[in-house]
Amino acid sequence: MIQMKDKILVVYFTRSGTSEKIALELNKHYKCIIDKIEVNDKLGGVYGYLRAAYQGKNRIQSSSIDVKNNPGEYYLTIIVTPLWAGNMSSPVRAYINKYKNDINSYGLIITHKGGSYEKAVKDTEEILQKKALFTKAFKEKHIDAGKIDIMDLLKFSH
Ligand SMILES: Cc1cc2nc3c(=O)[nH]c(=O)nc-3n(C[C@H](O)[C@H](O)[C@H](O)COP(=O)(O)O)c2cc1C
Repeated sequence: MIQMKDKILVVYFTRSGTSEKIALELNKHYKCIIDKIEVNDKLGGVYGYLRAAYQGKNRIQSSSIDVKNNPGEYYLTIIVTPLWAGNMSSPVRAYINKYKNDINSYGLIITHKGGSYEKAVKDTEEILQKKALFTKAFKEKHIDAGKIDIMDLLKFSH
């Protein structure tokens, strides 16, 4: 059971704002710090889309990422990633590789358009060498329509 006093870090990457909505929603309901992964790679526009698709498909991690917090200082890290060509996004792949020895327990949230996301879950577990406390996938159209319920993700004891 996660205690209220325990610190939670929500780390996310977003290319078009959908995953960020999840992070903001978590921030609204839970006591947590949210941290956006910044990258140098240009991922906007048509060429950016193609780069993202190529990196996702080939499981390539971003060459350089920037975040504000170290997950080692948090009991739980909630990782939020968009699905790219059936895989986690390359900035999130870089993040979990970089911090794999610092991440304590973690939860994984995937945003997607309806495709299968099992590979993203499997890769995350392999890199982090442990299972997620919870795994959840949300469809973009449900997020955009405000039809998501994150209240069942974490059960706090008071
Ligand atoms: C390069 C790329 C590849 C994608 N591949 C998939 C996919 O394989 N399956 C799927 O369901 N959605 C796919 N999507 C849709 C995104 O996962 C979805 O729109 C996500 O919610 C976007 O999150 P963001 O706005 O935080 O970047 C892809 C999007 C991009 C940009």
